[in-house]
Amino acid sequence: MAFQKRDLLFVSLIVVVLGIFIAISGEEKTTRVPYDDLHKKFYPIIKEDGKKAGEKFCGECHNPDGVPFAADHPPKFRCLFCHKLEEGK
Ligand code: HEC
Ligand code: HEC
Repeated sequence: MAFQKRDLLFVSLIVVVLGIFIAISGEEKTTRVPYDDLHKKFYPIIKEDGKKAGEKFCGECHNPDGVPFAADHPPKFRCLFCHKLEEGK
């Protein structure tokens, strides 16, 4: 039985779907904003006034003189698009 063009298309479709799946689940794994003494107080602000209102405070500590970022940290505007809150808090 010959390997048909149709089979190749089917295989590529699986590869694409798997790729998207892995990309999405990878994003979900980004560290969440810890629910600790330092970050707890931002939870209500973020919930009531939105992400943008909460993010204003992050840079007070997360800067080169405070808690520096890893050299390979992605572009950092809008922290909360990537760093979600802990669930159920
Ligand atoms: C485009 C997505 C994205 C944005 C925006 C973003 N981060 Fe990150 N951050 C990551 C990823 C990915 C990592 C490394 C993997 C991990 O820890 O989940 C990371 C890691 C971190 C870490 C762990 C220490 C480190 O540097 O490895 C801290 C703290 C952090 N980010 C804080 C912030 C703050 C504060 C902001 C906003 C000023 C921000 N991040 C914006 C994606 C993002
Ligand atoms: C009062 C100082 C301070 C402020 C403000 C602050 N952080 Fe942090 N953050 C820290 C310190 C210190 C750590 C490292 C110790 C720890 O994990 O609590 C940290 C760690 C983190 C981590 C990594 C946790 C981990 O498991 O590695 C993330 C993500 C993070 N902060 C996000 C944020 C975001 C988003 C904001 C703004 C809403 C913010 N932080 C505001 C001090 C602060």
